Amino acid sequence: MFQRLKTKFAKAPEDASQEVLDADNIPQHIAIIMDGNGRWAKNRGLPRIAGHHSGMKTVKRITMEADRLGVKFLTLYAFSTENWKRPKAEVEFLMKLPQEFLSIELSELIEKNVQVRMMGHKEDLPPHTLAAVEEAIRQTAGNTGLVLNFALNYGSRKEMMEAVRRIGQDVREGKLSPDDLNESHFEQYLLSSDMPDPDLLIRTSGELRLSNFMLWQLAYSELWFTNVYWPEFSEAHFNEAIREYQRRARRYGGL
Ligand code: IPE
Ligand code: IPE
Ligand code: MG
Repeated sequence: MFQRLKTKFAKAPEDASQEVLDADNIPQHIAIIMDGNGRWAKNRGLPRIAGHHSGMKTVKRITMEADRLGVKFLTLYAFSTENWKRPKAEVEFLMKLPQEFLSIELSELIEKNVQVRMMGHKEDLPPHTLAAVEEAIRQTAGNTGLVLNFALNYGSRKEMMEAVRRIGQDVREGKLSPDDLNESHFEQYLLSSDMPDPDLLIRTSGELRLSNFMLWQLAYSELWFTNVYWPEFSEAHFNEAIREYQRRARRYGGL
């Protein structure tokens, strides 16, 4: 214990960042709330959309780093069900980003065996946004490497409400008995049904909240926050988060 504290605090942060990661304890699923694009831009006297554009480059870098480290699932919160409240021009810009990102990066994602997925409410997305994402999903469906899961028009409360609604329907139609419903059965109705829960949640930009992100799935995830704005979030920060994750003891309520 003393030894552990000593190694944790005795080193300067720059030294600590040199420590190598334990390859046997890489989080299987990392979820990221990519926040701070607007403030990053504002600090530079740029329009907010410049921050979103720059943040897209971070998506690329962190995806490649996750792949390199052997992370199996990377879920990125790209647009929440609450983000529709933003000015129309900003929403329209954000809805064009998946197309732009994929037109530049899809070939490399395919080369790297990355499988693209989307977790969110498809019905409200503009057709051009949905078409770009669905095309990437289709082209990478057979890939077996990193799963790159975009949370796009995602909201945890809406996800759970829809799960409950569908469960009600299945009960009414006699496909499900309420007595058979348990946690793992409930999870089958969530948008994350084909993924394990996140082991590690990262949020950038200094905000300490979940903003309606994966409320069910994050029940036992390790949380890591940084003041760094998303456009400036680097591979080194990502490694730092994983290093901190590796220092933690996950107990799940046990001892
Ligand atoms: C995160 O950056 C991107 C989205 C929510 C789409 P923000 O746009 O929230 O940036 P801030 O929080 O205003 O700085
Ligand atoms: C959360 O960030 C949503 C995404 C990163 C996509 P927000 O910037 O929308 O969250 P709040 O409004 O600060 O809670
Ligand atoms: Mg924000």
